[in-house]
Parts: sequence; structure tokens; C-alpha cells
Amino acid sequence: MDPKIQQIIDELVVAYFMELETVMSYVANSVNLDGVRAEEIKKSLAADVVAELGHAQQLANRIKTIGGRVPGSQVFKAQQSSLQPPADSTDLVAVIKGVIEAEDGACAQYSKIIKLCDGVDYVTQDLCITLLADEEQHRREFRGFLMEYEKP
Ligand SMILES: [Fe+2]
Ligand SMILES: [Fe+2]
Repeated sequence: MDPKIQQIIDELVVAYFMELETVMSYVANSVNLDGVRAEEIKKSLAADVVAELGHAQQLANRIKTIGGRVPGSQVFKAQQSSLQPPADSTDLVAVIKGVIEAEDGACAQYSKIIKLCDGVDYVTQDLCITLLADEEQHRREFRGFLMEYEKP
């Protein structure tokens, strides 16, 4: 296989696992939080679970289409330390900051793949541009939550 395509597949696999870990983290945090102020955050996270799972499926399809193989769960290594549910279930700021960090990570990964694809694979590039736009929107929403929830 073309080493450039192999490199793209490897980075798509990284993105795929990031999306699936985000699904786990968002499910947990969308359920664990307590309090009136938590409701909007929980709703937003629950909606993002569906979006992130869709991203993972699109990545899996693209990996297969360009000659790769989607790895099984035993290859997965957890990375999202910032999104572990906080001990204090009313600590919204900890969760919001964790989400922003995860979305930052996703944006960086998609930007990396977009650059790798330049002149090589425009369909993967197009997919990652769409996914980057989604993650930027998620991040914008949570940055807005942070502005409100960090107000003294
Ligand atoms: Fe995503
Ligand atoms: Fe996202």
C-alpha cells in the first residue's frame, strides 16, 4: 500500500477511537451530573453522544473504503483523563473544561488528517473538514457554557 494512504488510515484509526472514547465519556457525564444548572449540560452531552457515534461510523466506513481495516476493541487505549466523571457530581465546570479539551483534541486530529490528505485523498479530506466543523461547533457551545458557569 502507498505509505501516504497507510499514514492516513493510521490517523483515521486514532480519530475513530477518540470518537468512541468521547461517546463513553459523554454518556457517563450526561447521566452523572446533578442539579438544576446541570440540566442543559446533560441534554447537550446526550445529543452529542449521537453525533460522535455518527462520526465514528463515518470514519470506520472511510477506513474500509481506502483499504484499511477497522480494529477491534482490544486495540483501544483510553486517553481522556480530563473527561473522567468528577467526584463531585455538581462540578459542572470540571465537565465543561473536559469537553472543551476533548473537542480541542478532535479539532487538532482532524486538522492533522486534512493536511495529510492534501493532494492525496480529497474524499477523506472532505469528510474530515465536515467533522472538524462539527467539533468546532461543539467546542463553541461549551466555551459559551464555561463563560456563564465560571462567572463569579
Ligand atoms: Fe466527533
Ligand atoms: Fe464533538
